[in-house]
Amino acid sequence: MPQVVLSGHGLVKYYGSVVGLAGVDVAVRSGEALAVMGPSGNGKTTLLHVLAGILTPDQGEVWLGGERVDQLNDAARTVLRRRRLGFVFQDNQLLAELPADENVALPLMVDGLSRRDAIARARNTLGQVGLAAEVGRRPGELSGGQAQRVAIARALVGEPQVV
Ligand SMILES: Nc1ncnc2c1ncn2[C@@H]1O[C@H](COP(=O)(O)OP(=O)(O)OP(=O)(O)O)[C@@H](O)[C@H]1O
Ligand SMILES: [Mg+2]
Repeated sequence: MPQVVLSGHGLVKYYGSVVGLAGVDVAVRSGEALAVMGPSGNGKTTLLHVLAGILTPDQGEVWLGGERVDQLNDAARTVLRRRRLGFVFQDNQLLAELPADENVALPLMVDGLSRRDAIARARNTLGQVGLAAEVGRRPGELSGGQAQRVAIARALVGEPQVV
């Protein structure tokens, strides 16, 4: 069986007195697509944010590959997210001032790739999600689905282990 690449164990998360997660165990294997389903407000986004290291759990552990994520500091979790995880936010989180190709290229440039190479890779990935003709448009000039595909391209462009 393929190895587990991302897992959460006994995850608990509170927002003040609101329970976000009440003890969740989850494991994702290499090559696997896992769907998390449930009513609105029952903790799906919280779970994904905790697994991606965007939020830290109040209890439990998160492992990415052989590395424990939840105990890393903010800066280390940010680097890990940029290099090994792609994340598509529910509200896409694109930068309104930047065209699609620059939004997608940004994580590569932050990681040290030249602007020229980053833009080339971004445009290639945008082509893969059907947006070759829209690379120069800002998020406000795109449809909701197109903007979400830009966010998907941004998640894929660094060839992460887990999306
Ligand atoms: N920043 C926050 N502060 C306080 N409560 C929050 C915060 N974020 C989420 N919650 C609460 O935590 C619970 C889980 O929210 P979460 O966003 O994980 O739900 P969800 O399953 O993703 O919902 P949806 O399907 O509507 O996107 C909800 O009760 C929500 O109101
Ligand atoms: Mg949600």
